[in-house]
Amino acid sequence: MNNNIINVAIDGPAGAGKSTISRAAAKTVGFIYVDTGALYRTVGVNALRKGIDTKDKPAVAATLSDISVDLVFENGEQKVLLNGEDVSAEIRTPPASMAASDVSAVPEVRAFLFDLQRDIARRNNCIMDGRDIGTVVLPDAKVKIFLTASPESRATRRYKELIEKGTQVEYKDVLEDLIQRDYNDSHREIAPLKPAEDGVIVDTTNLNLEESINEIIRIIREAI
Ligand code: DC
Repeated sequence: MNNNIINVAIDGPAGAGKSTISRAAAKTVGFIYVDTGALYRTVGVNALRKGIDTKDKPAVAATLSDISVDLVFENGEQKVLLNGEDVSAEIRTPPASMAASDVSAVPEVRAFLFDLQRDIARRNNCIMDGRDIGTVVLPDAKVKIFLTASPESRATRRYKELIEKGTQVEYKDVLEDLIQRDYNDSHREIAPLKPAEDGVIVDTTNLNLEESINEIIRIIREAI
């Protein structure tokens, strides 16, 4: 273990701005940014491709025996590989989001992705975002932040992102999906979404993007 390595854990519900804020903050402080949701999305996409019901836990667990999931970093940008294939775009669709939430409740999936996350954090100064980073994956992280916002403001952001990408969606479906995912993610038995006891809660409902990024950078700089 290299004691000079600094890890920042950022957890929170879907659409709180974790990835945008973490990516920008990581660039400013010179750390890599690791988006762990991409890993669960990749396992979800693999199950969808195979036509498996993503709520069928044993069937999802069985898909793990013949897949590899890897993260690579090119010019600081993360790419996620499924059996060597770059699936970074395919994992961003609404069905992939819901599949990710389903498969993330499968203990075998969480165990399968655990070492990969830990190994990256052991070797790199990083900001890692997810749902259980401060509580389970990196309980010794130097900084732990729980980033949240009201469901409506999160749904509005997510809706705009999807429309900008050309995805046809309705606001009410985005809001419903998000509430459903929040429920799934925070009520599952294993590693549920919740703030770490020794973490800081940041609510971005009334902050714009720049203010949110600055607040996260301030918390990180103060701690390191
Ligand atoms: O952050 P995201 O929306 O890309 O995550 C997709 C899903 O993956 C989310 O609904 C819950 C799950 N997830 C998780 O259980 N643990 C993590 N560390 C990251 C994501």
